[in-house]
Amino acid sequence: MKIRSIPTIIGAGVIGVAGMALVTMASYAADTSGTTTAAAMPKGEMLAKGSDCFSCHAINQKIVGPAFNAVAAKFAGKSGAETTLSDAIMKGHVGTWGNVPMPAHPQLSAADTKEIVSWILTLKTTTAATGAGAKKYTYTVKGKTVSTDFPIFQPGTKKVTKSVFTGYEQYNSYCFRCHGADAVGGSYAPNLRRSLNNGMSESKFLSIAMTGKKSKGMPSWAGFFTPAQIQSIYQYVDARAVAVVSEGTPKH
Ligand code: HEC
Ligand code: HEC
Repeated sequence: MKIRSIPTIIGAGVIGVAGMALVTMASYAADTSGTTTAAAMPKGEMLAKGSDCFSCHAINQKIVGPAFNAVAAKFAGKSGAETTLSDAIMKGHVGTWGNVPMPAHPQLSAADTKEIVSWILTLKTTTAATGAGAKKYTYTVKGKTVSTDFPIFQPGTKKVTKSVFTGYEQYNSYCFRCHGADAVGGSYAPNLRRSLNNGMSESKFLSIAMTGKKSKGMPSWAGFFTPAQIQSIYQYVDARAVAVVSEGTPKH
């Protein structure tokens, strides 16, 4: 692993006791971060995160391309699955999941692509992905009970979750100028609380936000935001839509 060799190089050039202490600290920090990443994330996932895959795919929901666990469900155990999928990624593909094409990835080596495909094929479909049996969080607002698929508050407090707060910050930095501060709607773009209250699903919200609607003035955020960041924005807007979070900066 590359990262482990850095302290060694520094160590060779440092003389003296204070210097040695520094080297020890540096090597400790480098080692922990190195092992944690390696243990927590399979190599195929790391390669996918290093490429552009996650601007169009997520593990358990459709963005522009199919959810990776849906690909696994369709192909796992089929003969030739690895070759079919590696070819699709390297040469580009269209037709299996709809009429939106996936671009070719000539920059990926065959070995790295195979590593990514093996990782994708290990993914399992979770209940949350199908929506059935997904956990609901209920809140009472002015005597009315509302529910969301995600927690709005940190357990036992009136402080919003980190995700909802991040969503608030990102919304108020990037979406407000067209969709209105506090997600109340602007003169230029629709009221997103109304979109959600009228039944827009989370995956639809994600896919419009990622792809954009250029001809209608809605920019594409793929490549700028990750799906997880758009999901935070969705959570903030939904928390506003059900009126659990009011205007202004939420408590955090
Ligand atoms: C610009 C958006 C975009 C990017 C970037 C992208 N994909 Fe796709 N991907 C798609 C679309 C759309 C499809 C569906 C194609 C089809 O219907 O056959 C797809 C399909 C797939 C499939 C299923 C192929 C099949 O034959 O069913 C796999 C596996 C996949 N992508 C992996 C990846 C990986 C790995 C990366 C990164 C190296 C990546 N994608 C990057 C949009 C994208
Ligand atoms: C430059 C202005 C602009 C910015 C900035 C902008 N949007 Fe939009 N957005 C639009 C317009 C215009 C539409 C309506 C498109 C249409 O008519 O279908 C739209 C539509 C949408 C829709 C679909 C709503 C519906 O009911 O169909 C979603 C979801 C959305 N935007 C999310 C976002 C998010 C999230 C951000 C911030 C990351 C954002 N937008 C930033 C202009 C913008």
